[in-house]
Amino acid sequence: MSNGRAKGIRLAGVVSAVLAGAIGLYAAWHAPMDGKAPKMAEEQFKNIQVLKGTPADQVVPTMQFISASLGVECEFCHVEHAFDKDDKKPKQFARNMMRMTMAINKDNFEGHLEVSCNTCHRGSSKPVSIPAIADENFKPPMEAPAGEKPAALPSANDVVGKYVAAVGGKAAIGKLQSLSEKGSMTAGGKQIPIEIYTKAAGKRASIAHMPNGESITAVDGHAGWLGSPGRPARDMNSAETDGYKLDATFALVPNLEQIFKELRVVQPEKLGDRETNVVLGIRDGMPPVKMNFDKETGLLVRMTRYTETPFGRNPVQVDFADYRELAGAKIPYKWTLGRPSGRFTIQVDQAQANVSMDDAKFVKPAAPPGAPQGGPGH
Ligand code: HEC
Ligand code: HEC
Repeated sequence: MSNGRAKGIRLAGVVSAVLAGAIGLYAAWHAPMDGKAPKMAEEQFKNIQVLKGTPADQVVPTMQFISASLGVECEFCHVEHAFDKDDKKPKQFARNMMRMTMAINKDNFEGHLEVSCNTCHRGSSKPVSIPAIADENFKPPMEAPAGEKPAALPSANDVVGKYVAAVGGKAAIGKLQSLSEKGSMTAGGKQIPIEIYTKAAGKRASIAHMPNGESITAVDGHAGWLGSPGRPARDMNSAETDGYKLDATFALVPNLEQIFKELRVVQPEKLGDRETNVVLGIRDGMPPVKMNFDKETGLLVRMTRYTETPFGRNPVQVDFADYRELAGAKIPYKWTLGRPSGRFTIQVDQAQANVSMDDAKFVKPAAPPGAPQGGPGH
């Protein structure tokens, strides 16, 4: 996957170039966070025609969604260092496609975002309009035998109850107030030592020891930021921050009933050879969080979170494994975080619960004049 990794890095580089211009801006995702109205795309960027009225902080996530849907990089549509230019045909074409997609949803789905770029493109710039020919393994679709009803879904209480029992019972929830972990991060065949500090109330800092210095991903309970060697730390947008806070909450044995307004059971799924129950966690004004619980062990094996963009949802999938006991609770010692642009795995070797942790660890460092520290990483 060295190719995918290179692509991820290049993409990160371009994204950071864009964000460098936006440092200091912290437009709210769906509601103004500090009383100020969020800055709009057309106020922040130079040549916005379709995304007018969209919060500026959604422009790059939208672009990531479009790139993932078409299986291309930013340069497919953009001239390097001049995102506002309309020099490339595909960019102009994409504007028409954006208008077309909005019209399809408006005319057929009451304006709900049912059809996205990915509905047609599915990772290719050229959608396929002709059905594929059967291959030698083709089996005719099987109809469910008449009279056989699909099994009834379990209740959310059953699934969550089984999960709570599996991770140590009710007493385990809230028991971990902090977690200090050391291990390694593997991406594209390379291994990097990593430390992860997590504290209640959505605080977390992951410090990856790269060959050229520390790369930090952190949230202080409110604001998220990214730091990498030789660059000023940059703010996460509010969707990234929410996602990273959610990861922090999940790391300390989550109280699902508290996090979500509603837990809704949907059709079960098979992940590899494991049967899982699927529960959607509903929060106000946010896309749902999808959780897969192993039917046999009850453990949470996958969490998929989404960020909304005007043209579709960007997914982040976290697969949990290697559950071990720590301080009366069971936590995953291994997880893989996957996005359309790539994935990495973290394996924890050492973990300590409820150690004292200075809050300063989670707070973005003020950039000392003349000595930039940290910077855009992801
Ligand atoms: C399939 C084509 C396509 C791809 C791929 C694409 N973009 Fe865009 N981008 C557009 C279009 C179209 C607009 C103008 C949107 C509008 O008019 O509202 C735009 C606008 C932008 C702008 C605003 C520029 C300005 O000043 O007006 C930025 C920044 C941007 N894109 C960044 C990116 C990044 C970063 C990537 C890669 C992650 C990317 N784009 C990938 C089509 C694309
Ligand atoms: C209803 C289906 C559909 C949807 C939805 C859709 N597209 Fe397309 N798109 C197509 C088809 C069909 C083509 C033409 C492919 C060809 O010429 O072979 C195309 C072509 C394109 C091209 C030109 C590719 C090239 O090689 O130059 C771009 C860029 C593009 N789409 C972007 C988008 C974006 C961005 C979205 C979402 C905002 C989107 N499309 C949504 C069907 C769709």
